[in-house]
Amino acid sequence: MRILVVGKGGREHALVRALAESPGAPELFCYPGSDAIFRLAKPIEADGLESLVTWMKSNAIDLCVAGEESYLVKGEGLANLCEKQGIPCWGPPKESAQLEASKEFAKEFLVRNGIPTARATATDTLGEALQAIGGEFPTVLKFDGLAAGKGVAVCPDEASALAFLDEVFTQRRFGPGRVLVEQCLTGPEVSVFAAIVDDQYLIFTPARDYKRASDDDLGPNTGGMGAVASRQLVSEEVLEVIEREIVRPTVNGLRQENLPYRGFLYFGLMLTPTGPQVIEYNCRFGDPECQAVMPLVRGDLAGFCLAGAQGQLRSDLIAFSDGWSVCVILASAGYPESSRNGDRISGLDAITDARVYHSGTRIDAAGNWETQGGRVLAVVAGAETREVAVTRAHAAADCVAFDGLQRRRDIGILNF
Ligand code: AMP
Ligand code: GLY
Repeated sequence: MRILVVGKGGREHALVRALAESPGAPELFCYPGSDAIFRLAKPIEADGLESLVTWMKSNAIDLCVAGEESYLVKGEGLANLCEKQGIPCWGPPKESAQLEASKEFAKEFLVRNGIPTARATATDTLGEALQAIGGEFPTVLKFDGLAAGKGVAVCPDEASALAFLDEVFTQRRFGPGRVLVEQCLTGPEVSVFAAIVDDQYLIFTPARDYKRASDDDLGPNTGGMGAVASRQLVSEEVLEVIEREIVRPTVNGLRQENLPYRGFLYFGLMLTPTGPQVIEYNCRFGDPECQAVMPLVRGDLAGFCLAGAQGQLRSDLIAFSDGWSVCVILASAGYPESSRNGDRISGLDAITDARVYHSGTRIDAAGNWETQGGRVLAVVAGAETREVAVTRAHAAADCVAFDGLQRRRDIGILNF
């Protein structure tokens, strides 16, 4: 089997590793990939989506796996172009990927399908937004578009709301777009991933990510500074409610609204005192949740994704380990406001009982790993108990050093 994985981050490195370890040893290709991914998957030369799909066609690719969301909604859409060429794609077409690309689209879908979610009003101007807030704080403001994780502000007071609205409506920091004013929910967050194949689904091991930059959930929001994954993260009862009130109605809604879906769908949930509610959908696996979840997946992920992309949910091909997986992110100097490239990374060879996925690294002229981006590495360890997984992951992370390294010490500990 010949598989092409689209993306270049730690999530894609974890996906590529899991696919490479599938029985049958598929031949792997990547676009755009990274130096770490190139060790498992051959780089391909393409100049944009069209040429990528043409390359896939002429090189007999059996399956395209979409890691990163941006390609799903770019131009004609990765999955749409694959479909035209008859190439099975694990990842939804552009129309369905609006669930992630447009928060307003997602909110209307949720409301239409009776799926629990925070009340929200779409606004076009600063005045409309202030009226919708109605002096009620805290409030949540969301830019309606892809904003690289920076488009959401939880505002405790009017000053913080005005600052965000100024960025959106006056400075146009994210480009043109509306703002959703949303009711602020409270409770622990959980990321649930379902593999969806038309009207069927399989729920993967739930995970939780740590979004803030610093220990104790302080500091600015980031792409994610770590994650834990375990079946035990959510009780049997709560998982049943999530499946009945959220996952099943979502899958039914996609069918009824003629939104084809074959791929991972990520449900960002808040477990509020009145039950689980949807905060967001993402049309892909989470990063860094993927790095925590993939080591728990057993069996034939490659076969599972290929069958799924061809319209068959083959739940018999994979299984999930019990136990816990803990992922610690190592970030470069300046992250998340900026990042620093070119810091030499040492200590990777000293890691024995953990996996290392590369989020932002490259190999320098002398053949050494160096930083290349904000999130640099994900160090992931597993064990029967959370405590042991935490100890292993942090001990392995201690082996790695580079100038300006930032990491959290409470990943897998805080919120338990
Ligand atoms: P999002 O980009 O939609 O995932 O939002 C980023 C983060 O903002 C979430 O992970 C939550 O921590 C927070 N958030 C989003 N919506 C709400 C809400 N309605 N109430 C409280 N917190 C929220
Ligand atoms: N970990 C959050 C995300 O992937 O969006």
